[in-house]
Amino acid sequence: MPVEAKHFSAKSGPAATRSDAAEFRAALRRWFRAHGRDLPWRKTTDPYAILVSEFMLQQTQVATVLPYYSEWIRRFPDFASLAAATESEVLHAWQGLGYYARARNLHAAAKAVVHQHGGKLPRNAHAIRQLPGVGRYTANAIAAFAFGDSAPIVEANISRLLARLINLREPIDTVAGQAALWETAASLLPSRDAAAHNSALMDLGATVCISRRPRCPTCPVQKFCQAADPAALPIKKARLGLKLLTEAHAFRRRKESVLLEKSENRWRGMWILPRLAQAPGRQPFYRSSFPFTNHRITLNIFACAEDPGPPAERQRWFSLTALESLPMPSPHRRALRQMLAAEEAHSFAKQRPHPSLIR
Ligand code: ADE
Repeated sequence: MPVEAKHFSAKSGPAATRSDAAEFRAALRRWFRAHGRDLPWRKTTDPYAILVSEFMLQQTQVATVLPYYSEWIRRFPDFASLAAATESEVLHAWQGLGYYARARNLHAAAKAVVHQHGGKLPRNAHAIRQLPGVGRYTANAIAAFAFGDSAPIVEANISRLLARLINLREPIDTVAGQAALWETAASLLPSRDAAAHNSALMDLGATVCISRRPRCPTCPVQKFCQAADPAALPIKKARLGLKLLTEAHAFRRRKESVLLEKSENRWRGMWILPRLAQAPGRQPFYRSSFPFTNHRITLNIFACAEDPGPPAERQRWFSLTALESLPMPSPHRRALRQMLAAEEAHSFAKQRPHPSLIR
């Protein structure tokens, strides 16, 4: 349902008039025509392609998503092909994008569309919201970009821009902060062509109203901005402290194969180097660290002798040639590549000690 522009925000700053909102939209659209980004998912209204792009763009930058998006559409061009893929194929195609719950939800959503909706994304917003991984943002993005509805959207770039526009003092990651942002987005929305308006807001947020040092002198809507100190906005709730975790994994090689384990938790369905319940009392052969949600994880890899017994449950020997086609999380793939490369170098120079990969 189209939302009438009444005011920028009911809560903060002087309520802007209907004509302010119209002037804001016009300035935004002029800027967008000259400076908007040319993105592949903007060249289509196919609900499937829009759904894929929006799942990928949750928590991931546009530049990272671009190659994944084209490859994904080539490999799985529609709901039917994605629904027919195995979990392993889906996770492999997502490999490197992180937050794998998105891939599992997208896969489950494709199956639901095929099995419950005859292969077509339902037109009705309520039914779309029932799909796995689809919240208010994704449902509205599909409504605006695929169906041309006048639906507001609020993602990271738009949140920052709107928080500054209305000088929002409430943290944006609270119920009240979110309510103020969605209300503002709705109040600015045009009754026609909300897709271009929403894209323009995202692009202005991504390229001008950027975090830390916003480029206010070049902003086309600066005169509407109520922020006293734009760089200090948006406010976010204090983050929980980072938790440090150290994990030990084994590199076991047998002739032309390597032992891997199917993860049950963090990377469910993906293959990792087998977890060691206890770190051996020696230096690891390889160490790296990476962020994961509110954790910083240190991965220690120990070269272990081949276990003579059969592989434990969830573990399997894979030939070296099969490794590239397995879904593996990036930290484990990098570790495995380094271990294999170091082994290779070592086997060419047997008399030299193993080079340490610990940085
Ligand atoms: N971030 C989330 N959705 C987006 C989109 N459709 N275009 C650009 N950035 C986005």
